[in-house]
Amino acid sequence: MVEFLLPKNSKVKKGNHFKSKGEVKKNKNFLIYRYDPDTKENPRVDSYDLDISDCGPMVLDALITIKNKLDPTLTFRRSCREGVCGSCSMNIDGTNTLACTKYISDVKGSIKVYPLPHMPVIKDLVPDLSGAYEQYNSIEPWLKTKENHNGNRERLQSPGDRENLDGLYECIMCFCCSTSCPSYWWNGDKYLGPAILLQAWRWIADSRDEATKERLNNLNDSFKLYRCHTIMNCTKTCPKGLNPAKAISNIKKKILATN
Ligand code: SF4
Ligand code: SF4
Ligand code: FES
Repeated sequence: MVEFLLPKNSKVKKGNHFKSKGEVKKNKNFLIYRYDPDTKENPRVDSYDLDISDCGPMVLDALITIKNKLDPTLTFRRSCREGVCGSCSMNIDGTNTLACTKYISDVKGSIKVYPLPHMPVIKDLVPDLSGAYEQYNSIEPWLKTKENHNGNRERLQSPGDRENLDGLYECIMCFCCSTSCPSYWWNGDKYLGPAILLQAWRWIADSRDEATKERLNNLNDSFKLYRCHTIMNCTKTCPKGLNPAKAISNIKKKILATN
């Protein structure tokens, strides 16, 4: 039987242990993935005992408190802390989600915090999303029209046409879905993945857009679109409750209907 081994430099080691100082009222343990490419050392998991009586209720609050009080070297992305910017997506307790909307109290025992899976890591909890953004650019995510339009007034939509964008426009591009998709793990260089395909459908579904045919032609590709095997991890994990698998299925149906 063939035995697969991880390369030595990708083995995750046990790291350092940090404790809150002074009297601790309510201790919670966090096990956090650490990686710094500048040190050329293997990734490690550091353990932090944090007094959570002293911080807000979300995992992001805990990360900020750890950074401020225990370990200023801990690196992560965040901006809005309201679940609208998509910056703080990471893997918490085995699920891709937003640190700012995940309650500490939802996790029993130690809270494991890792970067989004199967993405190159820039540092600690910060994944390199440049490939995903190149893919986003490839779908030309803007309104495309052929006719000249009177720039002094808005492009009108019926209420029904506007409703077709519900469940699409709310996407915050956090990439929790794409990084939970096995097809994207193995073919992420060619398969566009659920986040980008949901965005692609958002423009195809927009009654004001006049580039539907060229958009569908661009997607009608065995790798870009048809690597989706309806495994549904994407929809299960979306922290905004969206359904990228349905958006993908809508694209496939539209291609069938127009060919
Ligand atoms: S439904 Fe498609 S996009 Fe979603 S996880 Fe499965 S394979 Fe990936
Ligand atoms: S569909 Fe959901 S999980 Fe995927 S990028 Fe958009 S908000 Fe994030
Ligand atoms: S900080 Fe903006 S979504 Fe979490």
